[in-house]
Amino acid sequence: MKNNNIITIDGPSASGKGSLAKALAKELDFILLDSGLLYRAYSYCFEQTQTHSAAKDLFSDLRVESVNHEMHVFENNQDITSILRHENIAKSASQLSSLQETRDNLMSFQRDLASDHGLVADGRDMGTVVFPDAGTKIFLVADAEVRAQRRFYELQNAGQGVNMRDLIEDIRLRDEADKARKISPLKPADDSIEVNSSNLTPQEVLEIVLKIYKENTKEV
Ligand code: C5P
Repeated sequence: MKNNNIITIDGPSASGKGSLAKALAKELDFILLDSGLLYRAYSYCFEQTQTHSAAKDLFSDLRVESVNHEMHVFENNQDITSILRHENIAKSASQLSSLQETRDNLMSFQRDLASDHGLVADGRDMGTVVFPDAGTKIFLVADAEVRAQRRFYELQNAGQGVNMRDLIEDIRLRDEADKARKISPLKPADDSIEVNSSNLTPQEVLEIVLKIYKENTKEV
């Protein structure tokens, strides 16, 4: 049975998943799961502990909250979300995400967010592994140059100095690793719909996906 309370959005880095997921959560008043942020938070914990069991304990002490339809992570009441958005954390999250222990340690947290309230889940394996019964599954893609440009502006706006050439290479390597890993690789679910956001505004992407969702949930 399909669960119409869950929309999954998977795809490579900077394909526009984050903005789409946030806009959908706002429009439908759904909870947002930014699973990439959880992988970043876990890797932040692992860096301090160096073992999975201790990282799991430290992770469970973090507070994850929805602020304005966006996921935020707090450590001792301090919002550490912007720290987790740094490129160095993205690199270690990408490495750790290929390990079964990391994925196992985050699985129940992600699944527990599903409820009657509705969930938009953004990540790499939302539609394939974490929520295989989701009623609407989107695989969002965009050309590599467009994605690098988007991430460049995102990081620049966040005050992080980045070199465009390094960024293109980093994104390429992370995407390749996400696709090639044995466990939960980045790939479209068989019942997903691919949307290419390269030449679309965020509003146009939102409208396309809302139409798909409404079609899927239409009473017959
Ligand atoms: O989406 P974001 O760039 O924040 O994700 C950081 C890293 O976490 C990704 O490069 C990917 O390796 C990993 N990730 C994952 N599975 C998810 C979400 C993120 O492996 N569902």
